[in-house]
Amino acid sequence: MNQVDYLRISLIDRCNFRCQYCMPEGAELDYILMQQLMTDEELLTLIQEVFIPIGFTRFRLTGGEPLLRPRVVDLVRAIASFPQTQDLSMTTNGFLLAPIAQNLYDAGLRRINISLDSLNSDTFNQIIGNRGRPRWQQVWDGIRAAHRVGFDPLKLNVVVIPGVNDGEVLDLAALTIDKQWHVRFIEFMPIGNGELFDNRGWVTSADLRQRIRDRWGLTESQVCGAGPADVFQIPGAKGTLGFISQMSECFCDRCNRMRLSADGWLRPCLLNETGQIDLKTALRAGVSTTQLQEQVRYLLAIKPEINFKGRDSGTLGAYSRTMSQIGG
Ligand code: GTP
Ligand code: 5AD
Ligand code: SF4
Repeated sequence: MNQVDYLRISLIDRCNFRCQYCMPEGAELDYILMQQLMTDEELLTLIQEVFIPIGFTRFRLTGGEPLLRPRVVDLVRAIASFPQTQDLSMTTNGFLLAPIAQNLYDAGLRRINISLDSLNSDTFNQIIGNRGRPRWQQVWDGIRAAHRVGFDPLKLNVVVIPGVNDGEVLDLAALTIDKQWHVRFIEFMPIGNGELFDNRGWVTSADLRQRIRDRWGLTESQVCGAGPADVFQIPGAKGTLGFISQMSECFCDRCNRMRLSADGWLRPCLLNETGQIDLKTALRAGVSTTQLQEQVRYLLAIKPEINFKGRDSGTLGAYSRTMSQIGG
């Protein structure tokens, strides 16, 4: 079993996009009420007095869209300032990124993952559910700003939707040839509002790899992070290709992470709702951080049994929370 030392923290469940696979337009979403969101102070207390003392050193900020969180740069600075913080990263849709990329970097953020499901502005708009002005260019500007500022690695996430963007896989993979970027193809997961896709099936990572192999060849990369992606490379390319295959493969045995939702629920596994604990309510009720450490330690001990062990285990679909609420 991997050491579990990586906490994904959702800063807010709201988003300025309406991605088809996440929070599609028209879906009824129960947003977390403002008074139920963890305050900055509560979040920092949990990190400093509960998670760091029991060995967490890596933190990823997610959403919804984390850049919608007020004072996000200050939060980044505070988390980065803990001497035990070894890795601080963010997953964003990139729309609000360009103007604050430098501030985030200066505050201590070092790694960033940005969603980019298409290179085509119309397809992009279709996926993110945008009926207003085009948004692709602004996201692309965010990616370029992140590149200029020096985020490394810079990862681009592509959720592959059959019949919508799977035809662009080679174009997206080609980005890695002359840029030191990491393009990751994610198998679409039918969770939360994902039932909309139930009848589409999914394109497997193995299928995508074959298409890429047929075009350029493909080698396994030495750079294999501890994350969920299997990493490959087009021979001679500067960047890498990652495949996150939660539907066709099982990577639970190398899971190194837990998740904290914006309203303070700690969740041991993305795909299984068992074992969640409400840390924020406990904190507000005056439970000591030493006691909370004990509760989290217990969850760590039983995490291997809680981990989702393949999509046939029956838990997928029995979901009360969407990806935007859990934090992806
Ligand atoms: P790093 O390894 O730190 O770069 O992060 P990551 O790749 O896990 O982060 P990111 O937020 O970009 O996650 C991309 C996608 O990977 C998520 O939206 C999920 O679809 C998937 N994913 C991440 N963590 C897990 C996990 O623990 N279990 C499963 N099944 N999928 C995950
Ligand atoms: N299946 C797979 N990935 C998803 N994401 C959101 N919803 C889904 C889903 N149903 C991913 C986005 C982004 C991250 C925040 O979560 O692509 O990379
Ligand atoms: Fe927003 Fe990300 Fe969900 Fe898209 S996937 S709606 S950008 S939270």
